[in-house]
Amino acid sequence: MVQTLTVLGLESSCDDTAAAVVRQTDGAGAEVLSSIVHGQTELHSAFGGVVPEIAARAHAEKLDTCVVQALAAAGLTLADMDAIAVTAGPGLIGGVMSGVMCAKGLCAATGLPLVGVNHLAGHALTPRLTDGIAFPYLMLLVSGGHCQYLIAQGPEQFTRLGGTIDDAPGEAFDKTARLLGLPQPGGPSVEAEARSGDPKRFRFPRPLLDRPGCDLSFSGLKTALMRMRDQIVAEKGGLTRQDRADLCAGFQQAIVDTLAEKTRRAMDLYLEENPADPVIAVAGGVAANTAIRAALETVCAEKGARFTAPPLALCTDNAAMIAYAGLERFRTGARDGLDLTARPRWPLDQTSPAMLGSGKKGAKA
Ligand code: KG4
Ligand code: ZN
Repeated sequence: MVQTLTVLGLESSCDDTAAAVVRQTDGAGAEVLSSIVHGQTELHSAFGGVVPEIAARAHAEKLDTCVVQALAAAGLTLADMDAIAVTAGPGLIGGVMSGVMCAKGLCAATGLPLVGVNHLAGHALTPRLTDGIAFPYLMLLVSGGHCQYLIAQGPEQFTRLGGTIDDAPGEAFDKTARLLGLPQPGGPSVEAEARSGDPKRFRFPRPLLDRPGCDLSFSGLKTALMRMRDQIVAEKGGLTRQDRADLCAGFQQAIVDTLAEKTRRAMDLYLEENPADPVIAVAGGVAANTAIRAALETVCAEKGARFTAPPLALCTDNAAMIAYAGLERFRTGARDGLDLTARPRWPLDQTSPAMLGSGKKGAKA
């Protein structure tokens, strides 16, 4: 029997409080009926990173408003929902708990089923929400908090091929911007400076390229940049505009080259599964970088695969991806009880060894 499902999703694992309504009829494409995101950038800007306690309090204060706005924008009420999906991890624990408690309250009051969702699964399933991509596909998550290659094989079935062992690339862009006195978020500022820079003037390392596999490391790049900056300052008393542009261009090129080569390797592993229509999808704020995108598109063309990137609003943190991932779980019969727990760490692929590092945006799991 064809079944239409409508799911309310809640997201509060980092610094965005979000609620959304997604609907899907079995066998047809999914539709985002509403997606509300309240960012917290200004609350944390004075501290140089997300402050978990401030984030958790702001989520607790904003979640109900987000839910009301998401339902109103969809023109629906709680009575029209089939389930409530909520991010149950990984992330900053206070924020995740705020969302889980809010969802439990709504489920207890309405009798609606509760579905806990892994935040990373939300990102990883977004290409199905936006483009109806079939399993298995290769996914690269690149944001301020995440960096990993995954083969998505089912709504709860992921193989992690590799990921960062320290910083996420967005984090490296943000730290680089800070070191050069450029505005936050660092990605767009560094990319803009890099446009007028010479990527060959400074020799940045290409971390972990000499080792097999798909793991990445970005923290050494900002250390290298800091040394180069300090040397110029020591020699010339300060940085010129061109020095800054050349440093940004060299730094960005190192990230581009590293991601391109690791993507080539991940693609080879993925192609061993013989997918009928090979696809690589990217998600996360760093996917907005034109040079990175172009390099990934080139690798895809080399390997005969299709490249897809969800629209930026669904690439970055949002609740539509959580509603959709919840909907996929719900369709398979998954339900959670009111004993659902919030998890700071929750690897998508339980069989891979744990990742190192926990960046400014929380556990990368
Ligand atoms: O996915 P996102 O909005 O948030 C989380 O990290 O959860 O990603 C934000 C990150 C920031 O670190 C930002 O500097 C980076 O994405 N970013 C970029 C660009 N635009 C945003 N990095 C490189 N180039 C860009 N154009
Ligand atoms: Zn995220």
